[in-house]
Amino acid sequence: MCGIVGYTGPKEAYPIVITGLKRLEYRGYDSTGVALLNSGLKVYKKKGRVSELEETIVGKDLHAHTGIGHTRWATHGEPSDRNAHPHISVSGKLAMIHNGIIENYAQLKKELDNKGYTFSSDTDTEVLLNFIEDIKENNQCDLEEAVRVALKRVTGAYVILLLDSDNPDTIIAARKGSPLVIGVGKGEHFLGSDASPMLEYTKEVVYVNDYELAIVRPDELILKNLGNEKITPFVTRLDMELAEIEKGGYDHFMLKEIFEQPSTIHDCLRGRLDANAGTITMSGIQNNIEHFKNARRIIMVACGTSWHAALLAEYIIEELCRIPVEVEYASEFRYRNPIVNKGDIIVAISQSGETADTLVAIERAKENGAIIFGVVNVVGSSIARISDGGAYTHAGPEIGVASTKAFTGQLAVLIMMALKIAKEKGTISDERYTNLLHELDAVPEKVNTILKSAEDIKKIGLKYKDASDALFLGRGYNFPIALEGALKLKEISYIHAEGYPAAEMKHGPIALVDEKLPVVFIATKDSYHEKIVSNIQEIKARKGKVIAVITEGDEVIPGMADDVFYIPGADEIIAPMLSTIPMQLLSYYVGIAKGVDVDKPRNLAKSVTVE
Ligand code: F6R
Repeated sequence: MCGIVGYTGPKEAYPIVITGLKRLEYRGYDSTGVALLNSGLKVYKKKGRVSELEETIVGKDLHAHTGIGHTRWATHGEPSDRNAHPHISVSGKLAMIHNGIIENYAQLKKELDNKGYTFSSDTDTEVLLNFIEDIKENNQCDLEEAVRVALKRVTGAYVILLLDSDNPDTIIAARKGSPLVIGVGKGEHFLGSDASPMLEYTKEVVYVNDYELAIVRPDELILKNLGNEKITPFVTRLDMELAEIEKGGYDHFMLKEIFEQPSTIHDCLRGRLDANAGTITMSGIQNNIEHFKNARRIIMVACGTSWHAALLAEYIIEELCRIPVEVEYASEFRYRNPIVNKGDIIVAISQSGETADTLVAIERAKENGAIIFGVVNVVGSSIARISDGGAYTHAGPEIGVASTKAFTGQLAVLIMMALKIAKEKGTISDERYTNLLHELDAVPEKVNTILKSAEDIKKIGLKYKDASDALFLGRGYNFPIALEGALKLKEISYIHAEGYPAAEMKHGPIALVDEKLPVVFIATKDSYHEKIVSNIQEIKARKGKVIAVITEGDEVIPGMADDVFYIPGADEIIAPMLSTIPMQLLSYYVGIAKGVDVDKPRNLAKSVTVE
């Protein structure tokens, strides 16, 4: 969480930093600040969004060729002007921004308290900054050395950017556990939590690794490890265009991203799936095929929506590949003492590739000799880089905080994986394999068909927008979609929603059912159809309002449900990629009707780089 931006070069720094912050607001948006270095440091910061800061500093002296900026997702200290970054050191000479958590900040603060330091914020960042300054003064060393010494004492995660008024064109940066990209221009450098702030200036970037420190000047980029040894920067070429991170005529990124799915799913399948030839080309799987074929089990770790993709993958891989799959919340997996043996396969699923819990979970598993397979969207992200093999979802930048196109991309990759392993292992018949390849190939077109009836789901959503609670029920392959539907609705509309296996509902949640409770059934035509029809009857018998997502041609459920939404017919393994689309649209339209900022709902951040 938190977005960081930096610039040093011949251009004016402020416009680059402020535009970069707007692009990084998905990472946190409760306060904003910039520090500009010209003749001395100028710091402007404020509780609220980037646009609010921008308005309040019109007419101020913003001239500088070096600057840093921060958009915050609060961890230590409530969102407020005083807790906003950048922080200034006690001497007034250093300014610092930080993404992450300094876990031992209380201990460092105590040491500084004993030396008479006082603090003007509640943040761990200000503690680290003064700790660095204290080392600089006591050791009579330069800032770079002070940062190195300080970071050896720090536990936690960080990306920090520092300005020193004695070194007007230099930014010192360091990373552990949070992302940092440096853009290399002609006589200028850009820094960012991701590459979006620098897209229109350069395509050449360096992904900084953990425990690396960068000294960044207009015409110089020096990378070192914490042992002060130089590292040759590895320059990568970005495969991303500015248009991909703009709204392109849509009111919100979320809507744009929902509507992009026919093409993002197509991009994910392209070059991999050849239904006519009967082949799936996935080098990440092929390179590890013997491991997958002989795996005694696969462990999947993920969080949130990505965890829902993992759950669906469990059902599909067990069905098609006959390999036991365990699905773990990364945050639980990392802290318990899981049994992970050499050669175990861990599949880490993450849109951002930066989720701290997932990242640490796989680091631990890797230490135990597990093989890490990453299913990641953001190219070059930390999880992608630590993985032994993997497959990108190729959904393009996802900016709306709620995951939509990344989720269907994850499902596409995971289904292809399952099919490829099943084929190699001989656990799937040729007929079923061929049929599923064609079914998968047809998904983009079917998603397109669903999107054409978005207005129908909007009408349904508006009828229920004032509900205070909602239940989402599904069975089998549609159970993870029920969980995902409930998560989308609560994060985007603030309506309390629960997802359950439809049959489990009678073991407790049915007590909630009355004439006011909307119950969304994901009830497409599959092997559970008759059973879910009975569950719908159970809700109707208690006067609940039933909204059902059903398959075209279903003649049973429309007679029972209050509202239905049709999706095209599909094999039951493929249908969840379709039934999730109305769930996304439902939460979007309800959220809009309730006046929620759907791209940046309260308390959330797109990239959760703290535990
Ligand atoms: C929900 C959502 C989150 C993420 C979760 C994991 O819409 O976006 O639940 O799925 O924070 O993030 P990644 O996939 O980046 O690891």
